[in-house]
Amino acid sequence: MAYETILYEVDGAVATVTINRPKALNAINPQVAGELVQVFAEIAADAAVKVVILTGSGSKAFIAGADIEAMFKMNPVEARNFSRLLQKITTQMESLAKPIIAAVQGFALGGGTEIAMACDFIYAAENAKFGQPEINLGIIPGAGGTQRLPRLVGKSWAMELCLTGDIIDVQLAKELGLVNRVFPADELMDAVQKTAAKIAAKGRVSTRAVKELINYGYDLPLEHALRLEAEAFGVCSTSPDKAEGMGAFMEKRKPEFTGEG
Ligand code: CAA
Repeated sequence: MAYETILYEVDGAVATVTINRPKALNAINPQVAGELVQVFAEIAADAAVKVVILTGSGSKAFIAGADIEAMFKMNPVEARNFSRLLQKITTQMESLAKPIIAAVQGFALGGGTEIAMACDFIYAAENAKFGQPEINLGIIPGAGGTQRLPRLVGKSWAMELCLTGDIIDVQLAKELGLVNRVFPADELMDAVQKTAAKIAAKGRVSTRAVKELINYGYDLPLEHALRLEAEAFGVCSTSPDKAEGMGAFMEKRKPEFTGEG
């Protein structure tokens, strides 16, 4: 399908979604939000895609938040519905059976930090900046920031960031565990593509199981989550990828996963 505010590209098994409103620092308005819902549905339905990269156009911003001009005009019902729409995107991203890597350059603020957190992990450029500055606008995070941030960085840092609205640099974001790896800006996309290709070469049943178990097991009592892991471990044994992976080990060669199953 054709998109107006995002770019969508598929190269082999890796899809790249780029939010493309650089003049507004890729701020998310209702049109961007609607197109993100569409593109993640398209990705879910495309069996050829195994891994997704999410990024923003230009070097200045990943996403500078939800669009303030659009939100200024919203009445309370519209604001609630916009929040639910943004939450729908983040839930859709987490429930997508394919890993999503965020490639963050520049500002990832408000909804930008929230969308990045809904990716499975974040690689960032040295100029990346994160924060939940909604409090400075007289509102609060509305795309899951009050919920995912404490799960990722702990309650105290989430409180400080959401209550002060402070913008943090990439070093602190890495220290807090928000960002996995930091690169010079001109090396970021290469690094993300390399990691995406590495994951795309794994078995599809295993990558899906890892993503689902880590996402859904995290909030369950450990005993229940461990049972889910054992069930999924059993399911992996039904995949031809197990015979290939273990067979290749014993034959001292590299596995060629078919991604079936
Ligand atoms: N919404 C709409 N437009 C935005 C925007 C946003 N979130 N962020 C930046 N822009 C626009 C600016 O209005 C400006 O447009 P014009 O050129 O037409 O004036 C353009 O992008 C460039 O921005 P600046 O001139 O402000 O650039 P800067 O380098 O001086 O500052 C910045 C960069 C610090 C990111 C600053 O733009 C800023 O503070 N932006 C807002 C950040 C923010 O508060 N984000 C949270 C939004 S609320 C939210 O996200 C709610 C939620 O959880 C769902």
